[in-house]
Amino acid sequence: MFEGKLTRLREYHKEDVPLAWKYVNDPEVKRNLTPGVPFPIRLEDEEKWYDQQEAGKDTFNFAIERREDSTYLGGCGINEVDWKNRCVVVGIFLAREFWDKGYGTDAMKTLLRFIFEQMNIHRVELRTYSFNPRAQRSYEKCGFKKEATLRQRVFRDGQYHDEIVMAILHNEWIALND
Ligand SMILES: CC(C)(COP(=O)(O)OP(=O)(O)OC[C@H]1O[C@@H](n2cnc3c(N)ncnc32)[C@H](O)[C@@H]1OP(=O)(O)O)[C@@H](O)C(=O)NCCC(=O)NCCS
Repeated sequence: MFEGKLTRLREYHKEDVPLAWKYVNDPEVKRNLTPGVPFPIRLEDEEKWYDQQEAGKDTFNFAIERREDSTYLGGCGINEVDWKNRCVVVGIFLAREFWDKGYGTDAMKTLLRFIFEQMNIHRVELRTYSFNPRAQRSYEKCGFKKEATLRQRVFRDGQYHDEIVMAILHNEWIALND
């Protein structure tokens, strides 16, 4: 388990699956998360996702829980690892009722610590949509910098939107955590 100030990151438990399924099927969460068609996920598919997690593979999914009462808030993790160039791509979501309370920033800071201290990674990258200023602000608070705007990269709710690439390098993270 990896502790932040407000949250901790732990392995997923089978009992989290029904809640995870409920959280990611919230249209407001899905809208910000998926590049694909925002179609509801079946509970059976969420269970399959849980069953297919395999230790030692290049995806690392953490459940995020609140430290004070162990409530399951959402998830975060590493979606891609490029070991040769020491670069990872990360993602995060919380259920809507837990937004804007500092939990997402705290969990992402803990994930960054895990990545830089345990995986020996040089660069952490993520992508977010132009219509998600909350996520951009949260990532900036963690030290991510905006690097690129992919113009009209995602079609959502009847129009094209930009996708924003953000990243933090190991030395930048060290400087912030001195
Ligand atoms: C993105 C997410 C993980 C951030 O976690 P969070 O706990 O809500 O974020 P925090 O409370 O730590 O920080 C949010 C910041 O955004 C700010 N914010 C909220 N709404 C905003 C808006 N419309 N415009 C600008 N800033 C906004 C908050 O004020 C806060 O900044 P502050 O501390 O300087 O006041 C969470 O909101 C989430 O899961 N959203 C849905 C899924 C998602 O978007 N995932 C990321 C996909 S890239």
